[in-house]
Amino acid sequence: MSILDRFIHPPAPRCAALGTEAAARLAAIHASAFSRGWSTLDFERLLGERGVLADGLFLGRASKPAGFVLSRIVLDEAEIITVAVAPEARGRGHSRPLLAHHLDALSRKGVARVHLEVEEGNLPAIALYRRLRFAETGRREGYYRKPDGTRVAALTMALAL
Ligand SMILES: CC(C)(COP(=O)(O)OP(=O)(O)OC[C@H]1O[C@@H](n2cnc3c(N)ncnc32)[C@H](O)[C@@H]1OP(=O)(O)O)[C@@H](O)C(=O)NCCC(=O)NCCS
Repeated sequence: MSILDRFIHPPAPRCAALGTEAAARLAAIHASAFSRGWSTLDFERLLGERGVLADGLFLGRASKPAGFVLSRIVLDEAEIITVAVAPEARGRGHSRPLLAHHLDALSRKGVARVHLEVEEGNLPAIALYRRLRFAETGRREGYYRKPDGTRVAALTMALAL
């Protein structure tokens, strides 16, 4: 590949494990995605926790992630704590390779089953999980409180790796 090609063709998106150095960027993405954001300190604590695994999505030559997924592993099960893609990178099919990379990393750590909760009306997230073969395992009525005070159900989903 010539030097010119390198400028014209940006590198393919890649996924890589994240450490505490990513905390501020994750807090910013999280705040853009959820009404109750978590602080940089919250992410530093989470990322430093034993059993917490985080992966980031890197686009082009960016050194900061454009999206991330974070799970907590307990024995041979894991719970996906949060997934988010920065608003400018959404709707371009980036979330599936990110999550697939993460599930592969969980499997390599001996995780056999992955759980998550998702707001009932969150269509992109539900489409993402279904595409990765997560199946619904239950519904928690009124589980999430919206900024306007109304309550909405959570779907619980699981995947055997
Ligand atoms: C959920 C989220 C991570 C998905 O990331 P994304 O990069 O925008 O999604 P993708 O472009 O990879 O699309 C994923 C699926 O959602 C579908 N989708 C995307 N936008 C959609 C929309 N507005 N409405 C319905 N479906 C949509 C896509 O078609 C795709 O499904 P398919 O594979 O069956 O075609 C992203 O929307 C986000 O960060 N949302 C805010 C945070 C959040 O809700 N996280 C999940 C908490 S459980």
